[in-house]
Amino acid sequence: MLRVTVMVSGGGTNLQAIIDAIADGTIRNARIVRVVSNKKDAYALERAARAGIDTCVICRKDYDSPGAFEKALTASAEEAGTDLVVLAGFLVVLPEAFVNRFEGRIINIHPSLIPSFCGKGFYGLKVHEEALKRGVKVTGATVHFVDKGCDTGPIILQKAVEVLDGDTPEILQKRVMEQAEWKILPKAIDLIANGEIV
Ligand code: GAR
Repeated sequence: MLRVTVMVSGGGTNLQAIIDAIADGTIRNARIVRVVSNKKDAYALERAARAGIDTCVICRKDYDSPGAFEKALTASAEEAGTDLVVLAGFLVVLPEAFVNRFEGRIINIHPSLIPSFCGKGFYGLKVHEEALKRGVKVTGATVHFVDKGCDTGPIILQKAVEVLDGDTPEILQKRVMEQAEWKILPKAIDLIANGEIV
């Protein structure tokens, strides 16, 4: 059974998709052992509590240095016996030592078709604002392994989503979540949990 720690910062709809996919058998042989949030008031924490999942809040501002913050993140993931770390809307760049510690065992969902609209400063609604500004007709989402760069690790799954006339960033974000993110993130976890990714 793959032991998954999910890291969040906000609403937690991707976390919910994982919880639901485990419950209905779409994700096989995995369970969420802990949800870590860098925000005390993240709604994702309520979703986790409702599902009976252990939660932990680790805010950068509560630590004197980046090193102390990294140690707290690492200790929390280790204590939970984590096999796989899933960044599900975790809007903080992970400290390098954490990435080294869990090398090859961290995945991230990003709300665009990488390499478009990704990298430093591209997160959440901002990604969809930029896609609309550029006038792309197709966007989507990507699940990738996390390496030391920002959105540069090996791609696991992508799914395209149409941009429609009259889209606002909010409308586009919702379509990308519904049609892509909530499908490919659970699918990627299932593939990893069942040894189907080399
Ligand atoms: C999601 O759209 C996710 O792809 C994005 O933040 C949102 C979190 O929503 N992540 C990034 O932009 C990472 N660069 P959620 O809290 O409802 O899952």
